[in-house]
Amino acid sequence: MDKINLIKHRKALNHIVPYTPGKPLWEVQRELGLTRVIKLASNENPIGPSPIALEIISNSLCEFNRYPDAHAVELKTAIASKLSLTAEQLIVTNGADELITLISETYLEPDDEIIVPSPSFSEYDFGAHLMGAKVVPVPLDHEYQFNLDMILSAVTDRTKLVYICSPNNPTGTYFPKNMLEQLLQSLPNHILVVFDSAYSHYATNKDYTDGLEYVRSGYPIIVLQTFSKIYGLAGLRVGFGAAPESIIQSIVHVKEPFNVNSIAQVAATAAIRDQEHLEESIKVNTEGREQLYKAFTELELRFTESMSNFILVYLGKNAKEIYQQLLAHGVIVRYGDTWGLPEHIRISIGTTEENHILIEEISSILLKLQLYNVKEEQK
Ligand SMILES: Cc1ncc(COP(=O)(O)O)c(C=O)c1O
Repeated sequence: MDKINLIKHRKALNHIVPYTPGKPLWEVQRELGLTRVIKLASNENPIGPSPIALEIISNSLCEFNRYPDAHAVELKTAIASKLSLTAEQLIVTNGADELITLISETYLEPDDEIIVPSPSFSEYDFGAHLMGAKVVPVPLDHEYQFNLDMILSAVTDRTKLVYICSPNNPTGTYFPKNMLEQLLQSLPNHILVVFDSAYSHYATNKDYTDGLEYVRSGYPIIVLQTFSKIYGLAGLRVGFGAAPESIIQSIVHVKEPFNVNSIAQVAATAAIRDQEHLEESIKVNTEGREQLYKAFTELELRFTESMSNFILVYLGKNAKEIYQQLLAHGVIVRYGDTWGLPEHIRISIGTTEENHILIEEISSILLKLQLYNVKEEQK
């Protein structure tokens, strides 16, 4: 029907590039007919969720006729007690993704600006484009470190939000504590810092901050966290924001009442109390990071040191080929072109065994490529 063509979506939507998720395991299994597939593409927890959370989930499989708690009171109480915050300083959302959209809806008028160190997590741009606002990217330096002066010089009267992802996805580099302090002290008063520390638990350097201390002392900052990474609950979709009370009150205006389902609420409440699972997850990641660093060094591959659960690896002009070959051998990683890094892949850290498989596969692909290149040169 021609009439359908008269129904036009908002112009702002033309700027939105749909999010490309990591390929799911089942899809690769089905497409390639493989039995062994490992996924090192979406920065998930390779050891799974907290066993206590799993037990709570199976005991809660009833009362689905009831709506969930719109205020997620139990979960907020558990988070507040763990992080020395008040429940009023918290908002619980359908993943940190939803929170990024809510922040955008709360603060961005058309033609407002957000500053985003680049490359970084694509959802910040999505939120801005959704609202008809402008993204001002500030490049990271050649070693993917943040440049505070460049961030500050990108500020204009229209800047509303400054996003800092620390550890940064996809580089694994971080925004040190003294830099955050300087940023907060230097920014004009009308700007909110959105500090995304989704991967904070994996950071081991002393000068790292998850940003929460600045929320506690009342700075204009909102810290984003998620249950999808260290807590292993990505499939349940739950995250949260921590900010001074007045910021939370503004964001609550645009929140759907029942944004977080009841299973997600009980599971996350149990997960945040399970210190043993948290510590085990950190240990597996720190050891896996060392295992991969060692292997990449032996293979003479250049990589960026990471404070997170993934590593950005430089593979030069063969990056796409290596990514595809890994996929064909049942190892899903992320190809860097999504971030404008076509010579890189991003590898999520897995269990010792998964890392071992990745190392074996990448070594044999590199060997084959070298042999191929030698033959080509001799032609
Ligand atoms: C930096 C960063 N922030 C936020 C998110 C979103 O997390 P969630 O699963 O809670 O929506 C991700 C997910 O990959 C991420 O990498």
